[in-house]
Amino acid sequence: MELREVMRTTAAIRSFSTEEVEDARLERILETARFAPSGGNRQPWRVVVVKEPSLRSALAECYQVAWREYTAHLAHGLVPFAPDATGRWEGPAIDLEAARRKEAPNQFADNLASVPVMLVLFAHLPSLAVLDNGLGRQSIVGGGSIYPFSHNVLLAARDEGLGGVMTTVICREERRVKELLRSGPELALAGLLALGVPVRQPKRLSRKQVAEFTTIDRLDGPAFGSLGG
Ligand SMILES: Cc1cc2nc3c(=O)[nH]c(=O)nc-3n(C[C@H](O)[C@H](O)[C@H](O)COP(=O)(O)O)c2cc1C
Repeated sequence: MELREVMRTTAAIRSFSTEEVEDARLERILETARFAPSGGNRQPWRVVVVKEPSLRSALAECYQVAWREYTAHLAHGLVPFAPDATGRWEGPAIDLEAARRKEAPNQFADNLASVPVMLVLFAHLPSLAVLDNGLGRQSIVGGGSIYPFSHNVLLAARDEGLGGVMTTVICREERRVKELLRSGPELALAGLLALGVPVRQPKRLSRKQVAEFTTIDRLDGPAFGSLGG
């Protein structure tokens, strides 16, 4: 498939057939994904391929409880865990304990333990040159050395006829996930990827037009771009 077409159609896939994904296929995916860029080319990603059923179930439980926190924000019309307009986070905007007690059924979360491939992604903190540290706001830069890799995994999976999704909800449960997977303090949980054979083919993606997020010379300058579609 042509690169441009792949980039325009790699959707988040959350429903998979029961078809297994052999290790050789997964290895080919990681083998291609590893060419992702990272700050200073330090390649701070660490990946755990989770196969053991008890671990999968425990991770799915972590995801489910974090999902409850996530959806409770949405129910209040809030962007989950968003910083304020100055980039600061003053603590939870909702009662997280109450949220965690309220069931929030979700097809993906409820079937997570049985996805064909479960990858847990960590970032090696001492390898991250976080150039926006100390600016008194939410840091953005560190993740830039991890998430190109995770998107490469999704693109490479697509090339193998697979689909998948990158998820971060589970990062709310970082402490438990690190215990389960025996992580040292030097790693941060960056996400969980699920891969498999899609039940449905990718849909047409809904995204903003270029002119909606690009301006000339100043942020309040004229919009750049007129291509649509
Ligand atoms: C950094 C990041 C975090 C995400 N976290 C989650 C998540 O926790 N759970 C989930 O179901 N999808 C998650 N997604 C997938 C997004 O929901 C998805 O990319 C977006 O809705 C666009 O979907 P589409 O490509 O199918 O249009 C995440 C995506 C990114 C890039």
